[in-house]
Amino acid sequence: MANPALVRSSGINPITTSDAVVQVRDICKNYGDIEALRGINLEFERGKLTTLLGPSGCGKTTLLKIIAGLVPGTSGEIIVNGRVVTGPGPERAFVFQDFALMPWATVLRNVAFGLELKGMASAERTRIARRYIEQVGLAGFEEKYPHELSGGMRQRVGIARAFAVNADVLLLDEPFSAVDEQNRRKFQEDLLQLVEQEKKTFIFVTHSIEEAVYVSDRIVLLSPRPGRISQIIDPMIDRSATPDDIRRDAGYLDVVEEIWQGLRQYAE
Ligand SMILES: Nc1ncnc2c1ncn2[C@@H]1O[C@H](COP(=O)(O)OP(=O)(O)OP(=O)(O)O)[C@@H](O)[C@H]1O
Ligand SMILES: [Mg+2]
Repeated sequence: MANPALVRSSGINPITTSDAVVQVRDICKNYGDIEALRGINLEFERGKLTTLLGPSGCGKTTLLKIIAGLVPGTSGEIIVNGRVVTGPGPERAFVFQDFALMPWATVLRNVAFGLELKGMASAERTRIARRYIEQVGLAGFEEKYPHELSGGMRQRVGIARAFAVNADVLLLDEPFSAVDEQNRRKFQEDLLQLVEQEKKTFIFVTHSIEEAVYVSDRIVLLSPRPGRISQIIDPMIDRSATPDDIRRDAGYLDVVEEIWQGLRQYAE
């Protein structure tokens, strides 16, 4: 499957006016007999991180792929920066749930590849790729191939690649699921720093309620079969507190509990 960060053409046509960077308008998706998504309407703003949370199979990856332009909706439309999406584009970068690295290319080449497609000169893209490789804790692994890395390390290559291309919209499908708890917490801080500094639009998927509450400005709970929006929660975390204090805060724990109550009905 093509990574939209690696695709040259913008794949979008002009049409609309609204200031949300990404608008999901009445999206429905059927795969044959399976109704994966029904009537999804959402807006995503710059500088905000929105998490899609819901049971396995509720359509989170499907929705990200439709926003990425990798899969068409059955009906409805996606608007990015005021234009209707008709395919992938360089302003949207995707971190895939299953890594999607090029197996024949080194870590350095994988991370730099989106920049290579943008036509960036070799020295410059190597410099940028090395910076992000270091940021995700893979310095020294630049010349390794994906099969020489653990699952969590491959996932970090995918994260570095998405961050390096400097896209407006980051679509992150369970990017930390294969990473150990210590690194996961470090990445959560890195992610929050990126949201704060880079004013991009983040659409994030996780199965961890705690992670969702910790990193999100907004959490969209989806119900399964068909995937529909069941609840929208803004955790309103006080980011001036320390990570430990946030995780112990009664307000934080209340939101975790509220979401757990909202999701437990779907436990199988
Ligand atoms: N390419 C496909 N062909 C047919 N059915 C599909 C396809 N991709 C997804 N589905 C179905 O659509 C539904 C939603 O799948 P999706 O992968 O979007 O769920 P998800 O919420 O990302 O799940 P998970 O949490 O397990 O990653 C599921 O019922 C799945 O079987
Ligand atoms: Mg998924």
